[in-house]
Amino acid sequence: MKDLFGKALLDYQNNNYTEDLMTSTNISDEDELPLPYLFRDYNDMPKLEQQALNLAKGKILDVGCGSGSHSLYLQSKGLSVKAIDVSAGAVAVSKARGVITIEEKALLDETDTFDTILLLMNGTGIFQTLDQVSTYLLHLKSLLNKGGQILIDSSDIKYMYLDEDGGFWQDMNANYYGELDYFLSYKGEKEAAMKWLYLDYKLLLDACTAIDLKCEMLAEGEHYDYLAKLSI
Ligand SMILES: C[S@@+](CC[C@H](N)C(=O)[O-])C[C@H]1O[C@@H](n2cnc3c(N)ncnc32)[C@H](O)[C@@H]1O
Repeated sequence: MKDLFGKALLDYQNNNYTEDLMTSTNISDEDELPLPYLFRDYNDMPKLEQQALNLAKGKILDVGCGSGSHSLYLQSKGLSVKAIDVSAGAVAVSKARGVITIEEKALLDETDTFDTILLLMNGTGIFQTLDQVSTYLLHLKSLLNKGGQILIDSSDIKYMYLDEDGGFWQDMNANYYGELDYFLSYKGEKEAAMKWLYLDYKLLLDACTAIDLKCEMLAEGEHYDYLAKLSI
C-alpha cells in the first residue's frame, strides 16, 4: 500500500491541495473524491452521519476515522472517543487536527471495549468481501460493552446494475453485486487495487441474526443508503 489516501489527506491538511483523489470501480468510471469532503464538519455531513453522531454515547470507537471529522465533533461535545485507522497519513492528520486518542490499527486488531462503535461513510466497506462479514461482525460484537451499540451505514447498490428497462444485468457467476474492486489514484500514482463492500440491509440483517446480534434500520437516505444499529 502506498497510502495515497493518507498522502492526499496530508496534502490537504498542509495546504498543498492542488487536486482531488480519483476513484473508480470494476462497475463504474473514474470519479473525483473531493478532499474537502473528507474534512467536512457536522453541518456538511449527510443526515445519516449526523444521526449516528447524535446517538453516540459512552466510550466511543471511531473505526476508519480518516481525517478525524467524526471524532473531532464528538470530542467537542465532551464525549470520550478513540479513533483508529490503517492509514498512517490519516492518523497523522487526525492527530494534527486535534484527535486526542488515536492509533494506527486495523479493526481486527482492536481489543478494547466500547459503548458505541461507529463505522461511517459506507462502514461495511472495511469488511471488503461478503465472506468476511461474519468475521468482522463477530469481532465487533466482542468489542461491545453491555448495552452497547454499533452504528454503521451502507447502501444497496443494486441500482447500478439496472438497465433502462429495469432489468438486472449482473453475470450469474459473479460474486455478490455489492462486492467491488476499488481503484484509487492521486497525483499520477495508482494505489494497489482494494476490495470494498456495499452491503444491502437484508444481508446485513441476516448476517447479524446468524450471530445473535440485533439489527435495526434507523434511517434510510435518499439514495438507497441506510444507517443501522447493531446491539446484543
Ligand atoms: C471511506 S474512508 C472514511 C473515512 C471517515 N470515516 C470519513 O467518514 O470521512 C475509510 C477509512 O477506513 C480506513 N480503513 C480501511 N480499512 C480499515 C481497517 N480494516 N481498519 C481500520 N481502518 C480501516 C481507511 O484507511 C479510510 O481512512
